Amino acid sequence: MTYSRITGTGSCLPERVLTNEELSRTVDTSDAWIVERTGIRQRHIAADGEFVSDLALRASRHALEAAGRKPEDVDLIILATSTPDMVFPSSACLLQAKLGVTRGAAFDVQAVCSGFVYALATADLYIKSGAHKCALVVGAEVFSRILDWKDRGTCVLFGDGAGAIVLEASDEPGILESQLHADGRHAKILNTPGHVCGGSVLGDPTLKMDGQAVFKLAVRVLEESARATLGARGFAVADLDAYIAHQANVRIISFVGKRLGLPDSKCIVTVDRHANTSAASIPLALDVAVRDGRVKPGHLVLLQGVGGGFTWGSVLLRY
Ligand code: UT7
Repeated sequence: MTYSRITGTGSCLPERVLTNEELSRTVDTSDAWIVERTGIRQRHIAADGEFVSDLALRASRHALEAAGRKPEDVDLIILATSTPDMVFPSSACLLQAKLGVTRGAAFDVQAVCSGFVYALATADLYIKSGAHKCALVVGAEVFSRILDWKDRGTCVLFGDGAGAIVLEASDEPGILESQLHADGRHAKILNTPGHVCGGSVLGDPTLKMDGQAVFKLAVRVLEESARATLGARGFAVADLDAYIAHQANVRIISFVGKRLGLPDSKCIVTVDRHANTSAASIPLALDVAVRDGRVKPGHLVLLQGVGGGFTWGSVLLRY
C-alpha cells in the first residue's frame, strides 16, 4: 500500500511588518482591542510588485531544502489561494515556471481559509493512487490587496504570507484521514463579491465579513470535524501531539481547544505574529512548529481549516 507523507516544510513572510499600533494611526482601532478580541499583534504586508507566486516560491524552496529534494523531483503542484497573481493562468503554473519545473501537473485550489486542507487532501489522493510521487502543496495569500483599509472590522485581521510542504509517496502512513466539507448557503457571511467583466471590476472587490456569524459557525464545525476525523481512525483527542487550526483568532483556537479538552501546550498559535493569512495560515503554523520542535517525527497532528464558502475540513497525520 502506498501512503503519502510530509517530508519537508517551509514558509515565507514578506519583510514589511505592520503593527497594531501603526494601524491605529490610520483607522479607528487600538492595540488593546485587537489583542483582546483576536490575539493579533502584527501582520506582514507584501511589497508592491510582490505576488502570491513570489511568496509561494520562497516557501517552496525552503520546503524542498528541508525534504532534501530538488525542483526537478516535483511532479505535482497544488497551490491554495484566493488572491492569485492573475485571473489565469493559475498561480501554481506561475510557481512551477519560477521553480524551473517542467513536468507533472500544477493547479490552484480555491477554498479560501480551508484551501490548504483541501489541497493537502487532494494531493494525498493523487499520491495514494500512484499517479504522482512528489508533490508541493502550498498555501499563499496577499489578502492585504483585497482589504478595505477603512473598515476596522476586517482590515486589522489579515496578513500576507505563504507556507509549503513536500508530500511524498511512502510505505509508512503519513496522512491518515482527511474529511472535507462545504455549505454554500453561508456564502454571504464571508466573501469578496467583486469580479472582472468587460475590462473592469464589477461589484465590491474588498472582503466583507459578518464576524460573529463566522465565529459561531467556525467553532461548531471545527469541534464536530475534529471529533469525526479522529473517531474515523479510532483515535481519541488525548492521542494528539499537536493541534493546528486555521489561524484566524486566538479565541476560536482556545474555544475549540477547551471544548475538545486539549491542553494549551498542544494548540499551536501563530496568529499573534502573522494575523490571518487565509490558506497560508496552516502551513505557516506547521512550519513554525516543526522548526521549533513542537511537531516531531512520529507525532500525531490534526490540521483544521475553516472559512469562506462556507468550507471546512480536517487532515489527521502522522508527521
Ligand atoms: O478566516 C476567516 C475566518 N474569520 C474568522 O474566523 C473571524 C471570526 N470572527 C471574529 O474573529 C470576531 O467576530 C471579530 C474579531 C471579527 C470581531 O470580534 P467580536 O468580539 O465579535 O466584536 P464585534 O464584531 O461584536 O464588535 C464589538 C465592538 C463593536 O462596537 P459596538 O457596536 O459594541 O460599539 C465594533 O464596532 O467592537 C467594535 N470593533 C472595533 N473596535 C476597535 C470592531 N472592530 C474593531 C476594531 N477596533 N478593529
